[in-house]
Amino acid sequence: MPNHASPITNYAACILAIETSCDETAAAVLRGGKLLASEVASQIAVHAQYGGVVPEVASRQHLRALRPVIAQALAAAGVALAEVDAFAATCGPGLASSLMIGTSVAKGLAVALRKPYLAINHLEGHLLSPFFGTHEGVRPAVALIVSGGHTLLVEIEAFGKYRLLGQTQDDAAGEAFDKVGKLLGLPYPGGPNVNRLATSGDPARVDFPRSMLHSDDFAFSFSGLKTSVRYLLPKLGDISLPDVCASFQEAVVDVLVAKTLRAAEATGRRLIAVSGGVSCNTRLREKLRAACAARGCELLVAEPALCTDNAAMIGYVARLMLAHGQSSALTVDIDPNLRLVA
Ligand code: KG4
Ligand code: ZN
Repeated sequence: MPNHASPITNYAACILAIETSCDETAAAVLRGGKLLASEVASQIAVHAQYGGVVPEVASRQHLRALRPVIAQALAAAGVALAEVDAFAATCGPGLASSLMIGTSVAKGLAVALRKPYLAINHLEGHLLSPFFGTHEGVRPAVALIVSGGHTLLVEIEAFGKYRLLGQTQDDAAGEAFDKVGKLLGLPYPGGPNVNRLATSGDPARVDFPRSMLHSDDFAFSFSGLKTSVRYLLPKLGDISLPDVCASFQEAVVDVLVAKTLRAAEATGRRLIAVSGGVSCNTRLREKLRAACAARGCELLVAEPALCTDNAAMIGYVARLMLAHGQSSALTVDIDPNLRLVA
C-alpha cells in the first residue's frame, strides 16, 4: 500500500517512535532535536522465570503494553496524537512476532493520520545513540555496538554511511554475560548482575582466555570464554563467585577495548562511539576511558538509559531520516535478520 503522506524535511517535526524488537516495549516522543519523553515497559520480570526471552511471551506482552506505553509517552511529552508529524518503528533485526507489533501500530497510525512512516534499523538506533543530544550530531567515528544480540565494530563516515569492520563469530558480548550469569545461578539478565558482583571480585584471580585478541582482524569470539567458565565451576576451590565474575568480565572487556582502539588506529578515526546494553558495564566504561585518554582519542558513550533498548534512539534515527527527506513505504516489511550494512 503506498503511503500518501508527503515527505517532511522540517527539522522541528514531532515524531512518535516505537521499539518492540525484543523484550522491552518502548515509545518516545521527539520534537526537533529534543527528547520530550521516553517510556520503557520492561518485560524482564516476565522472562526471568524462564531464564531468557520467550518469543511467544514477548509478543503477547508487547500487545498488552504498547498502547499504554504510547499514551504515557504522549502524556509525558504533553503532545496530542494529532500533533505527531511522523510515526517510526523498529523493523529489524529482532524477534519477528515482536517486530510485527510495533511496525503494525506505527503503520496504522501513519495511515489513519496521513503522516509519514519510518522503518528503523535497531542497530542504527544503537549505533547513533551516543550522538543523540550532542551539539555536533553524527560525526566520523569508530563505533562499537555491544548488546545482547550483537557485537560489531563499524566505521561511521556520516549519517547513513557505515562500513562494517568486524563482528562476533559466535556469541554476542551481552549473550556471553547472560549465559555466564545463568551458569552462576544469577537472575536474568546476567549482564548487570555479573557487573554488580564483579565490583567486589579480583579481575586477575582467573586467567580466562582472551579469544581473538591478537587476530589480524576486527572479529570477536566469546563462546570459548563461556565454556571456560563452565569447566571451572566444578573445581572452584577457594575462588569466590565475585572473583569468577570479575575475571570473566575482565576477559570480555580486554578484548573489546583492545580491538576498538586498534580499529581507531587502523582507520585513523579519533572519535570512539560505544553503544548497546553492554556499554552500561562500569568496567568497560572505565577501561575505555583510560585507553582513549592514553591514545588521545575522544570517547562518546550514551547515558545508560539510551544504551539498553529504548525508543528514543529509534526516534533519533527517524529524525535524521526526515531531515534528509527520507521516509519509508508502508510496504517495507519487518526483517528479523536485518543488517546494518547490506
Ligand atoms: O541493547 P540491549 O538492551 O538489547 C539488545 O539489543 O540485545 O542489550 C541487552 C544486553 C543484555 O545481554 C544485558 O545482559 C547486557 O546488555 N547488559 C550488560 C549490562 N547491562 C546490560 N552487560 C554487562 N554489564 C552491564 N552492566
Ligand atoms: Zn538492542
